Amino acid sequence: MPELLIKNGLLADADGERRGDLLLKGGRIVRAGGRISARGAEVFDAAGLWVFPGFIDAHVHAREPGFEQAETIASAAAAAAAGGVTSILLMPNTSPAMDSPRLLRKYAPGAAAAPGNVVFSAAATAGRAGSRATDFAALKKAGAKALTDDGSALPYGLLPELIKKAAAAGLPLLDHPEDLSVTGRGVCHPDAAARLRLPGIPDISEWLAVLRDTLAASAAGPLHLQHLSLAASVEVLRQAKAAGWPVTGETCPHYFALSQADIRRDDADLKMKPPLRAEKDRRAVLAALADGTLDIIATDHAPHSAAAKAGGFGRGPFGVIGLETLAPLCVTELVLKKVVSLPRLAALLSANPARLLGLRRKGRLRPGFDADIAVLNPRAWRRVPAQFVSKSANSPFVGRALRGWPALTVVAGRIAARA
Ligand code: DOR
Ligand code: ZN
Repeated sequence: MPELLIKNGLLADADGERRGDLLLKGGRIVRAGGRISARGAEVFDAAGLWVFPGFIDAHVHAREPGFEQAETIASAAAAAAAGGVTSILLMPNTSPAMDSPRLLRKYAPGAAAAPGNVVFSAAATAGRAGSRATDFAALKKAGAKALTDDGSALPYGLLPELIKKAAAAGLPLLDHPEDLSVTGRGVCHPDAAARLRLPGIPDISEWLAVLRDTLAASAAGPLHLQHLSLAASVEVLRQAKAAGWPVTGETCPHYFALSQADIRRDDADLKMKPPLRAEKDRRAVLAALADGTLDIIATDHAPHSAAAKAGGFGRGPFGVIGLETLAPLCVTELVLKKVVSLPRLAALLSANPARLLGLRRKGRLRPGFDADIAVLNPRAWRRVPAQFVSKSANSPFVGRALRGWPALTVVAGRIAARA
């Protein structure tokens, strides 16, 4: 395999930042830092650019099987590469639900052929129906890297059992914290819903679930909370961590870059679960990213067809795409506004998701680690285009001016995308 030498960049990972070169060979990082020369290597000049370990997105809906018109494993991986994301964890709310070793094995070849590292989560309950645990050991053996019923919350009655079984199997358990009895037919934050004359989703839909999840974790074991969006949720997480409870938390760019006030018309590209919250919640999410309360930024990339989204807030599906706007949203909203440092961003996007998913050779710019790299250009300024590599275009950010677009994405030492 050819060598790739990335020269003169600002190397940033969770351990720190330094100027220097990076040499990749045989799918691994062979040297990181200092001045490196390697005769015959392909050279990429990264002067003025930021060189990160490839981003690891622990929350992606690839829609295969069942909704391939919206996305496929291949198109999700291509969108990821375009966004500097070198590994994606697929959610199991496909049709049929990814709940068996047989299904995992069936889709593994497509994942292996995709232009990036694609790993699967499996449903924690059969059919994601919430009544019976799946066989965690068998799912792990078939390649699952996590367990979740995402799209639906884990059933509270089974939660202690699910947590203990996941820990015994050595797999992370991820929950979508939502109390559907509170959500009801709600479509978005109550203030925006009032403007649209539609039913709202009260904050306690998430808050109650986060309280129950953290209490269950305190008694039973590790649990990861997906897509946190509320001031109340991050405060519960902060206190749970202070008490030493084994909980981790994730948020998504739309929760720190938008609020319910951005819903100015009936546009379902702003409709997702959990919903955009109040400005005070957005600020609390930013503070929790800065102080280490939140561990991970994931996209919750949730492609839906334009035809489905044409149903508006009333009838359109929940979900927004995010793989291709992740990096510039993090640079523009977090780094340039001095909410987080580059090493902290690298922890949120690479080191922490690698740890959660047990991807042992990923997440840092160190010799011996996998040669998965994201190079960003902090000066590249452009508006989010209406066209995406993703098969879907349901982004709430189209037209927004952002800085920090990807310049180069490398997967296993090979160039997967280049601006
Ligand atoms: O907005 C969302 N869309 N939230 C979820 O939890 C599921 C996802 C989807 O699958 O579309
Ligand atoms: Zn979810």
